[in-house]
Amino acid sequence: MRLIVTGGAGFIGSAFIRLALRERWADRIVNLDKLTYAGNLENLREVEEDERYEFAHLDICDEAGVARVFEREKPDAIVHFAAESHVDRSILGPAAFVETNVRGTFVMLEAARAAKTARFLHVSTDEVYGSIPGSLDADENYPLRPSSPYSASKAGSDLLALSYFTTYKMNVVVTRASNNYGPYQFPEKLIPLMISNAMEDKPLPIYGDGMQIRDWLYVDDHCRAICAALTKGAPGEIYNVGGSRALPNREVVTLILASLGKPESLMKTVTDRPGHDRRYAITTEKLESQTGWKAQVPFEDGLNRTIQWYRDNAPWTARVRSGEYQAYYERNYSRR
Ligand code: NAD
Ligand code: TYD
Repeated sequence: MRLIVTGGAGFIGSAFIRLALRERWADRIVNLDKLTYAGNLENLREVEEDERYEFAHLDICDEAGVARVFEREKPDAIVHFAAESHVDRSILGPAAFVETNVRGTFVMLEAARAAKTARFLHVSTDEVYGSIPGSLDADENYPLRPSSPYSASKAGSDLLALSYFTTYKMNVVVTRASNNYGPYQFPEKLIPLMISNAMEDKPLPIYGDGMQIRDWLYVDDHCRAICAALTKGAPGEIYNVGGSRALPNREVVTLILASLGKPESLMKTVTDRPGHDRRYAITTEKLESQTGWKAQVPFEDGLNRTIQWYRDNAPWTARVRSGEYQAYYERNYSRR
């Protein structure tokens, strides 16, 4: 299989490329990435010498550039990860989210349509459902009620991708995954932010009461789910991907502090995120029954593996936290 992967220098995309080459899911992968603050070629050291792999430094909104890559590569499938991915940044500045997530996805869909690409896998999120009340778990037919500019832009691109199946009979599959965690995650997201701050005895900012619930999915489990949906999913279908481990944020942070041997007094309650979704919860039965996929990594194992990775890779964290990160951190946290 010849693949174009977008956003492959980010957290999940790089994990997907590393696994896909290691486990021979693909004969060739071209990684199309703009290298925003979240894109980092260090994440791909393991594969950079692999002759099956090539990097193309490109913005997915660049129609001519994208068309040239399709023309040259004639891919069998697209795995579309590229996006602005952080809710807090979408609150501070939504424009890039509309541009990359909505218009960029449109450019990728048009390029795939023109090239008659066999399959388009759009990587979406369970955040498109918004906050799920009570003890209900959302299936793929649950209404979309996104709360943040991030999740609204993802809902827009998710629906646009599905419209290409309905209208143009394009072979589109959409996956909606829950919160990922694991090595190489940018330390703006909850788990790597708390690990890296705790390692340096810095305060751990807990939004509001910290009882918001997220369903944690180890990144390699997500990548295997994408491979399963790509190879076994039915055209036009949506597949939720969850880790089946729903926990309040405070509990996650408490586990991190215990594992690092740091005091709980590092947790500091700060002003809540506007529009903060209280609870995400999804069922993953459809993907399991149709493809045989199942999450393999229990949360405690995945969390300990992740903590160990950040302990072993302090220079990686120091490099990604220099420069732009400081300005973002100041902007997001100084007035909370
Ligand atoms: P990330 O922010 O770590 O990486 C995003 C990557 O996309 C970066 O390499 C960046 O350079 C690239 N990119 C951004 N704008 C681009 C553009 N205009 N052109 C080309 N490349 C561009 O994100 P992630 O956490 O790895 O998420 C990947 C995908 O998975 C996103 O679509 C996200 O919505 C989705 N998702 C993420 C999670 C999660 O928990 N992180 C959960 C479900 C779904
Ligand atoms: P995050 O990792 O940003 O993912 P998402 O908002 O996409 O689910 O946040 C996960 C949860 O952690 C969310 O409920 C917000 C909360 N959170 C904090 O309490 N403090 C923080 O500094 C961050 C980044 C997140």
